[in-house]
Amino acid sequence: MSSINRSASNVYAEITSNRKAGAYHHIALSVGEMAAHVRPGNFVAISVGGEGSSMVLRRAFAIYRSVDLGNGQGQIELVVAPHGQGSTWVASQPVGAKLNVIGPLGTAFGIPTEPVRALLVGGGYGSAPLFGLSEVLKARGCRVDMVLGASTAMKIYAPLEGKRSVNALTITTEDGSTGIQGRVSDVIPDIIDTNNIDIIYSCGPMGMLQAITDIARAKEVMHQCAVEESMACGIGVCMTCVLPVRGEDGVIRMLRSCIDGPVMDGADVIWESKRTIPEGTWGA
Ligand SMILES: Cc1cc2nc3c(=O)[nH]c(=O)nc-3n(C[C@H](O)[C@H](O)[C@H](O)COP(=O)(O)OP(=O)(O)OC[C@H]3O[C@@H](n4cnc5c(N)ncnc54)[C@H](O)[C@@H]3O)c2cc1C
Ligand code: FES
Repeated sequence: MSSINRSASNVYAEITSNRKAGAYHHIALSVGEMAAHVRPGNFVAISVGGEGSSMVLRRAFAIYRSVDLGNGQGQIELVVAPHGQGSTWVASQPVGAKLNVIGPLGTAFGIPTEPVRALLVGGGYGSAPLFGLSEVLKARGCRVDMVLGASTAMKIYAPLEGKRSVNALTITTEDGSTGIQGRVSDVIPDIIDTNNIDIIYSCGPMGMLQAITDIARAKEVMHQCAVEESMACGIGVCMTCVLPVRGEDGVIRMLRSCIDGPVMDGADVIWESKRTIPEGTWGA
């Protein structure tokens, strides 16, 4: 039986920096010892709206980077897209404000023991966890290619950092305002062939993850993705984040993406279910 990430803790974390970066806010938080337990792919659940707020649900944010400073001190960084009420509140908080943060939560990307050729694909703010992952993979001797995609240039997060942290970076935008015009799925097949990619790691909108799963299946490449299913609690209690996933025994089960994910094997997710429970699902 899955359970909440064993390293998770609940802290009041002070904002040490909040700067605008394109369409996003890059926010650094002083989280103490929590930073030492973060693995690429983990996320945090943040209480929003302040004391007495009617916004009772926490909001989930992928951890962009964590820095363990030792002696129980550390920092995490987030990339926040202000769109709904809660994320806009988080983005508007000044340096010095304290946020109630639970983390690290969820599963992490699996890191190969041997050097492999990896392709990291991020859509919009979905690129957030990929930079930390790239650092870990490169430290293991892996070749790392990255594709960042978004609707428009302003929504490509940290293109310069992307360039520095990987062997080759490709950018796609749907309106052609920067990089190649089109979607990430337009360029991935060629990159897989040219660079003999062994594994794809991805994070972004569910439609994008489904498209990458189809490509990975056709090219017989492994694919780990961090899903972005709506989450109400983030800690395994409410069941709002369930997804149909096929287990090794062939049985489909509704899994909680906040504790059995967000990182999952793309080939196991029943993407076409579109928020319904597929026939034959265990317990249905
Ligand atoms: C694992 C994960 C990682 C994420 N990482 C990032 C990130 O790095 N940066 C970023 O900007 N955003 C990220 N998000 C999205 C972020 O959590 C959303 O912006 C947020 O949930 C929407 O909140 P809002 O305040 O913008 O909108 P609002 O409209 O104010 O909030 C909507 C609230 O309702 C909940 N909700 C909506 N639909 C459902 C449903 N069907 N069932 C249950 N609850 C529902 C949402 O979870 C949210 O709590 C991530 C989401 C997930 C799940
Ligand atoms: S978000 Fe509540 S169980 Fe996953």
